[in-house]
Amino acid sequence: PPGLLRRVDEHLGEFLSQKSRFKCFQDNSVSRSSSSGSIATDEGLFEQPELQASSKAVMEKVLWRRSLHLRDQQHAWQSSLDGSEMLEFRKNLPAYKEKDALLTTISQNQVIIISGETGCGKTTQVPQFILESEIESLRGAVCSIICTQPRRISAMSVSERVASERGEKLGESVGYKVRLEGMKGRDTHLLFCTTGILLRRLLVDRNLKGVTHVIVDEIHERGMNEDFLLIVLKDLLPRRPELRLILMSATLDAELFSSYFGGAQIIYIPGFTHPVKTHFLEDILEMTGYRLTPYNQIDDYGPEKTWKMSKQAPRKRKTQIASTVQRLIFTEPDKGVRKVVLATNIAETSITINDVVFVLDCGKAKETSYDALNNTPCLLPSWISKVSAQQRRGRAGRVQPGECYHLYPRSVFDSFFEYQLPEILRTPLQSLCLQIKSLKLGSISEFLSRALQSPELLAVQNAIEYLKIIGAFDESENLTVLGRYLTMLPMEPKLGKMLIIGSIFNCLDPILSIVAGFSVRDPFLTPLEKKDAAEAAKSQFSRDHSDHLAIIRAYEGWKEAERNFGGYDFCWKNFLSVQSMKAIDSLRKEFFSLLRDTGLVDEHSNTYNAWSLDERLIRAVICCGLYPGVCSIVHNEKSFSLKTMEDGQVLLYSNSVNARESRIPYPWIVFNEKIKVNSIFLRDSTAISDSMLLLFGGSISKGDQEGHLKMLGGFLEFFMKPDVAETYQKLRMELEELIQMKLLNPTMDLHSHHE
Ligand code: CDP
Ligand code: MG
Repeated sequence: PPGLLRRVDEHLGEFLSQKSRFKCFQDNSVSRSSSSGSIATDEGLFEQPELQASSKAVMEKVLWRRSLHLRDQQHAWQSSLDGSEMLEFRKNLPAYKEKDALLTTISQNQVIIISGETGCGKTTQVPQFILESEIESLRGAVCSIICTQPRRISAMSVSERVASERGEKLGESVGYKVRLEGMKGRDTHLLFCTTGILLRRLLVDRNLKGVTHVIVDEIHERGMNEDFLLIVLKDLLPRRPELRLILMSATLDAELFSSYFGGAQIIYIPGFTHPVKTHFLEDILEMTGYRLTPYNQIDDYGPEKTWKMSKQAPRKRKTQIASTVQRLIFTEPDKGVRKVVLATNIAETSITINDVVFVLDCGKAKETSYDALNNTPCLLPSWISKVSAQQRRGRAGRVQPGECYHLYPRSVFDSFFEYQLPEILRTPLQSLCLQIKSLKLGSISEFLSRALQSPELLAVQNAIEYLKIIGAFDESENLTVLGRYLTMLPMEPKLGKMLIIGSIFNCLDPILSIVAGFSVRDPFLTPLEKKDAAEAAKSQFSRDHSDHLAIIRAYEGWKEAERNFGGYDFCWKNFLSVQSMKAIDSLRKEFFSLLRDTGLVDEHSNTYNAWSLDERLIRAVICCGLYPGVCSIVHNEKSFSLKTMEDGQVLLYSNSVNARESRIPYPWIVFNEKIKVNSIFLRDSTAISDSMLLLFGGSISKGDQEGHLKMLGGFLEFFMKPDVAETYQKLRMELEELIQMKLLNPTMDLHSHHE
């Protein structure tokens, strides 16, 4: 912008004229401004005293220049035509009216909590207010604001929105970082990232050096990562008194967070809403003369034409509706056309559709929970919380008065919990426990007892026990060598272990495909109307009783087709998701480089694939990762049934290739997960032989053969025969020793030992 350079030079002149507090360059041309207290350079950056002074001064000069530049840029945009139009829009958001109060409170308090209706401008405005104010006070180049989002899609879309509100492209002052993707430049001072990304940064940077503001968004969702992050940040605050922590929430449980942080200040952003009339089941029945459904009632409201929105959304399992279709729900329908929105509970707080007039609330949500007593995750429909019901009601009444029909009696509503259970109380805790150990946060149960709501002791014990069984923890809950490798890999421990063992046994390629395949949305699509055809297509990929091998084949088939530019057709014909295939492709690369960083894989030799075609070895490695997820196959005349030790009979999900078989020529099945729906179902399974289970099941790096054999003994007397046990025990011992050796000396070549 005109005048910028002149002003920079003026400021620099002022800057240079100040007397130096340090010995500087010999020519004395650069010195430190005594008034540069506003520039908070990192004291610890330079160790050598000579270098320190000079480099520091140079650095400050650079930062000062950049700060000026940022401010001028901001002014130029705000006074431009587009910029002032944008500012007008922003000024109409409820959050804007609280801007000054927000900034003052943030400057005076280390922790603040911001609560306001969805759409009031928390996510897009609050981080922006802070950035603008830092830039205005010439701290632009030294501020570093991190705003976490629970989902990658919101980190990406919000950063794009904020960049455009600032008249910039992504990657200038505003950027984002999610797993595998990011847009972030040298001058990025506001970064939107997933909560997971910030947690991984804490792994290498315990004090969040250089970060000035952390904003944790959507805390009302009470995701496990967010709850975990809050414990870590709470510990960090006394070590970083300058750091600011801002928590943002859509609902009314702000007091809970406030008291967690010792009575932190809460700012409510008031929003205007039109009245929403509330009807419970008894009102509806009375209103309709005990005959009509609420939908008929609404139907009387306007013309008969219904907007066929649902037709346009592709009906895939776990569909991520394409963004163009997604945008359609926000558009206003033509006059005389009715818009009907079918929404999951994501719409409770994450998106706002302004023209909604009627809300039908069924009062239920399908939610995962965790039964610690039986150590089983469950997926059951359950009643929602009062807050959720209120949120659902609040979807109406945004631009005109609305009505909400709760399809249950008021007495049922009165019995709802106040808030939804946080994820930390609804999920197995294995990954979390591993993370706690890798961040060196001390005793797991002590650490978790400081959570906003602590998980029950039994759930913690189950997780620790699991980590011991797979060999990640030793008896006193410390990380083993294997455990330390696992903390370097960002996936569930079972998949991480599979990768590690796969690279040790030189069959990395197929294992990479499996692990990547289970880290993305299910690549096998099952459209409701073509369920049979889709399941048949899936079993084309695996006639050998393994959903894991099916993933390998599907990926390899796609890759081959892709080389001939037929990847899309291949997916279409075989009911595969193109996005998932592409995601697998890039995850494979990411996981490969992580393994290379651990030293286990030498990218210059090709030995890591020497045994990649050995299907039996691949099954064994799968077993090694999934153990103790194992059940025995009991054949009867016409078919077979499955039994685990703890649960008795279990069933396979219908989309497993094994569910289509009537016989399986193996004695065991290992599985990724079990989940209780009405019965207990197994998801994603592979059939394995006795020897695979005996040699590879159990804690490969710990050598707990006895416990392992005892566990198997519960299934089959065969294993308890002394001579069998002895033979296998000896073999296992050798195997364990080899693996242990390799884990301790990752560069050692095991190839010659393979026989
Ligand atoms: O976080 P919160 O729900 O409070 O609101 P927000 O995400 O900051 O959105 C504030 C307003 O910005 C919305 O009501 C939309 O009008 C607008 N917005 C937009 O136009 N495009 C986006 N990608 C995001 C927000
Ligand atoms: Mg938001």
